[in-house]
Amino acid sequence: MTTQQNIAAEEKPRRLPRYTSYPTALEFGSLGPAQYKDWLKALPDGEPISLYFHIPFCEKLCWFCGCFTKISNTMAPVARYLEILKTEIDLIGQITGRKKISHIHFGGGSPTIISAPQFRELMARVKANFDLLRAAEIAVEIDPRTCSEEKVKAYAASGVNRVSLGIQDFNPAVQEAINRIQSEELIAENLRWFREAGITNINFDLIYGMPRQTLGTIAETVAKTVAFKPSRIALFGYAHVPWLKKHQQMMDKHHLPEQAERQAMFDLASAQLQQAGYKAIGLDHFALPGDSLLIARDEGRMKRNFQGYSADPATTLIGFGASAIGSLPGGYAQNSPDLKAYAEMVGEGQIPARRGLSVTPLDIMIRDVISHLMSHFAVDPDAIASQHGIRYDFSRERADLEKLSAVGYVKRQGDSYQITKAGQPFLRAIATLFDHYFPQDTSGIIDRCVHESEG
Ligand SMILES: C[S@@+](CC[C@H](N)C(=O)[O-])C[C@H]1O[C@@H](n2cnc3c(N)ncnc32)[C@H](O)[C@@H]1O
Ligand code: SF4
Repeated sequence: MTTQQNIAAEEKPRRLPRYTSYPTALEFGSLGPAQYKDWLKALPDGEPISLYFHIPFCEKLCWFCGCFTKISNTMAPVARYLEILKTEIDLIGQITGRKKISHIHFGGGSPTIISAPQFRELMARVKANFDLLRAAEIAVEIDPRTCSEEKVKAYAASGVNRVSLGIQDFNPAVQEAINRIQSEELIAENLRWFREAGITNINFDLIYGMPRQTLGTIAETVAKTVAFKPSRIALFGYAHVPWLKKHQQMMDKHHLPEQAERQAMFDLASAQLQQAGYKAIGLDHFALPGDSLLIARDEGRMKRNFQGYSADPATTLIGFGASAIGSLPGGYAQNSPDLKAYAEMVGEGQIPARRGLSVTPLDIMIRDVISHLMSHFAVDPDAIASQHGIRYDFSRERADLEKLSAVGYVKRQGDSYQITKAGQPFLRAIATLFDHYFPQDTSGIIDRCVHESEG
């Protein structure tokens, strides 16, 4: 799950940011298209960039879903949307000129709703406007229920080399409670298609903290997951935001695990995965040795971004499609989430981004501090400030880190602070210490760790 899919973008009660961006999307205000156009024009030629495509359609609604999507029972709205998306690609390509691309991500919603010929056409349009690097990673989020062998062949032929399958949970009672029924046989069939087509970088998305989940069902789901040997696993905590996603109320009749139960589920799954040979990465990822994210983490290259964690070296991401967010050296730009408004703007030849934020050199430095903390559970803020050529006084932050050290959540090593095993569940709360937009005065850092919502 990525911020591109708008999980918990707004806060009620106050939720801890996931820091897939800094400043977070909560700080976005109105952004003039001229500003975004200037940022796009100013992109340097030699540097590879990343592209994100949002496909906001699904066939059926999962009741846990926190993503920005619409249910469509016919293909006509999808086909219309794809035409607009292709026009947007031309529009942006004309402004940036032919840029080199190191990474492409298709997210949603369900990109698998697109037919095989439609996917080939979309990729052809991307290639008509940009130069894909030979080593580019091209990733697609897969709803196994709407995937097919023909679609997998189209992905492979278009250069797709990583897929993330929405698994969530294998237990039939949980699947019923979340309105997401999919059999193990279906997953096995999907995996056969991918592996036969040569797509071997396979991620599984699992969720803990949902109705009817117990330590027993979690253990069973993890055991089944391990048997399928995906190279990478994301183990997301269920984000319950019914004030934003009304359909999540469908699950309110069930007991939702409390924070302590959630933590026990995460700890159990994490131990089981590590016993099976997976290495823990950051907040919620696991990977087998040889996985590119694990290698990037071990080499200190892993970053926090809208994809959660990424090995992509690009510093620029351009978002395409309704609600998509781009991150450029100048700042963030988000396309309109209103499908009609998005289509009208693109149809009139206008850039469809209307919200965003210019970033200052201080924001960029703090983003690096937070990304480092979220990725490596350790940070030397002064070293990062000096890499950015910024003189900054971290004494308030260091005083709070000392308080955390006194309760065993943090360990000081020279000028660097390392989050201990006991402190790891509070990673997001600890990161708020550095966040200039997060109210620092309302509660002490220890209270914040213990009381604020981690969901
Ligand atoms: C956009 S979906 C991926 C593709 C596809 N639509 C699917 O569901 O299979 C991305 C992932 O976000 C995660 N997700 C969605 N809603 C969530 C929520 N409320 N809390 C935590 N994770 C969520 C799920 O694990 C899902 O697989
Ligand atoms: S298929 Fe994925 S995006 Fe669509 S409703 Fe289910 S979780 Fe959400």
